[in-house]
Amino acid sequence: MTTTTSHATTAAVDRGEPAAGADTRAAIAPLLFGFFPAQVLHVGATLGLADLVAGGPMTSAQLAEATGTDEPSLYRVLRALACFGILDEPRAGTFAAGPHAPGLMADHPASLQHLVRLFAGPEVWRSWGELDVSVRTGEPSWDRVTGAPSFEYMRTHPELQAVFNRAMAEGTRNATPGIVEVGGFHRFSWVIDVGGGDGTLLAAVLAAHPQLRGTLLDTEDGLAGAEATLAGAGVADRATAVAGDFFASVPDGPDAYLIKSVIHDWDDERAAAILRTVRAAMPADGVLLVVEPVMPPAPAPTTDVLMMVMSDLNMLVCTGGKERTEAEFRTLLADAGFDLVSVAPVTGPTNYSVLEAVPAR
Ligand SMILES: C[S@@+](CC[C@H](N)C(=O)[O-])C[C@H]1O[C@@H](n2cnc3c(N)ncnc32)[C@H](O)[C@@H]1O
Repeated sequence: MTTTTSHATTAAVDRGEPAAGADTRAAIAPLLFGFFPAQVLHVGATLGLADLVAGGPMTSAQLAEATGTDEPSLYRVLRALACFGILDEPRAGTFAAGPHAPGLMADHPASLQHLVRLFAGPEVWRSWGELDVSVRTGEPSWDRVTGAPSFEYMRTHPELQAVFNRAMAEGTRNATPGIVEVGGFHRFSWVIDVGGGDGTLLAAVLAAHPQLRGTLLDTEDGLAGAEATLAGAGVADRATAVAGDFFASVPDGPDAYLIKSVIHDWDDERAAAILRTVRAAMPADGVLLVVEPVMPPAPAPTTDVLMMVMSDLNMLVCTGGKERTEAEFRTLLADAGFDLVSVAPVTGPTNYSVLEAVPAR
């Protein structure tokens, strides 16, 4: 068999065809089958399996009864979750929390449960299923498969909006220490987080800087969890939540405008419109801190870059936005009346950078 393969490979090379690397099959197969585990995680998250076993081991029959599912089929999912380390199978057919169970627990500080429910959920899933349509048309397939642009759609689907809000908080929580560290917030007296969601980042910034007061701007729906988040961090007395539309206006008065994971949701025209609204509100000596991944111009395939490249495609299919290089941010900011003055990678396990900009001189 080996001899045949090697002859076939030699013949292919002789014909001028590129040789397959020894590990080509091993490299491609996990990518191809990568969507299987995502759906296993999704079933685990939506059924709340990690929370169910948190109180002690349960048999597959007990878990099937608790979740209203078909026991033999559920057993096959439980076995897969045990392979991922989310569950543990101490005895055949009995399942307990595995080392990664916290990742699927609803309220655990390490939870990614809502990220799983969002990104492997039906809307994002079906949008990715039409990546080819987005590539042909340049339009987000989300709009076609759900019938409305993502933020508009979520407004009329409160359950998905709630999952989205919690997913954003889960995604941001990990990055807050690094953003607080490199953001230079000691320089400011009043910071506004534009499109700040439930206030996870603003709460961390205010908690670390007692001299600061903060404003959180988002839509009415985006702010749903804000009161609890700000109170939970003990900063509610220094924070105000304001419902608004960042395409129309943002409050004036703060000396620092923070905007995280918002610009990448939008195409250049819409992103520049948001930045212009911020520019119009800002004092001449104000500072803008844009927190986003910054795509390297010719990316080497590291894990960080792979996450950015995938996130970029997710923007293509879900929102019509994109991840940007430093040069693209510089141009976008200039279009909106800003000079980009520095780019500081956020410390810790995240691929964000803080891009600092000031009103153009
Ligand atoms: C990707 S999330 C980022 C949330 C938060 N900054 C974070 O990093 O976790 C984008 C945010 O923009 C908000 N948003 C979308 N359209 C908006 C609008 N027109 N005006 C204000 N906020 C808006 C959403 O509600 C959402 O909270």
